[in-house]
Amino acid sequence: MKIRKTMLALAVGTCLCAAAETIQLPKPDADSGVTVTQALKARRSTRAFSEREIPLETLAGLLWAANGYNRPDKRTNATGLNKQTTEIYVCMKKGTYRYDAKANALVKACDVDLRPAIADWQTFAAKAPLALLIVSDVSDPVYAKKWPTLTHYDAGIVSGNVYLYCAANGLATVCRGTMDRDALKKALNLSDKKILHLNHPVGFPVAK
Ligand SMILES: Cc1cc2nc3c(=O)[nH]c(=O)nc-3n(C[C@H](O)[C@H](O)[C@H](O)COP(=O)(O)O)c2cc1C
Repeated sequence: MKIRKTMLALAVGTCLCAAAETIQLPKPDADSGVTVTQALKARRSTRAFSEREIPLETLAGLLWAANGYNRPDKRTNATGLNKQTTEIYVCMKKGTYRYDAKANALVKACDVDLRPAIADWQTFAAKAPLALLIVSDVSDPVYAKKWPTLTHYDAGIVSGNVYLYCAANGLATVCRGTMDRDALKKALNLSDKKILHLNHPVGFPVAK
């Protein structure tokens, strides 16, 4: 355990000077999947994943469903006070990217594979081809003054969208509060105003 944490810390330390790189996502297919009631029937937590990579088209749809724009200035996920301060990082073998919902693009945040830090002691989670990390920015004074937990509910709504998109599109996922928050914060150079709420490893289910 100690060796694994040390190796992770070393990997994370090399990550702060990541080269800028942007991946333009394909236009999300807003008509994929099944009915909402069929998705609700299929929704479940799955903790085993095939190694098969997720196509970029599917990732684009997943991110749009989670936190994308479905109106010019509003999202697929509701947010308290319409603050829209919740965002998603995509952790993959080739590095970690921030989802830029407005540009429909992935912006490189870190060169290191952060799936082990996402998994922490639940090692099954590092086997998924990618994990979504749900983060909120709480620098707006309204959070500290009036409603410190508001973004926690926002994150829960994003998580629900992820579950439903996965259920509707044949993907496996599980919502997790477990993760090595210190390692992730350091690797992604996140300030204390960023809350790492939940993560979702996502992959295709293991063939039966
Ligand atoms: C806020 C939250 C945190 C969770 N954290 C974890 C976690 O750290 N690890 C895990 O394996 N499952 C986690 N789960 C998944 C629950 O264990 C799972 O939803 C529950 O067992 C019910 O199973 P179902 O989703 O298949 O209905 C979490 C779920 C929620 C909503």
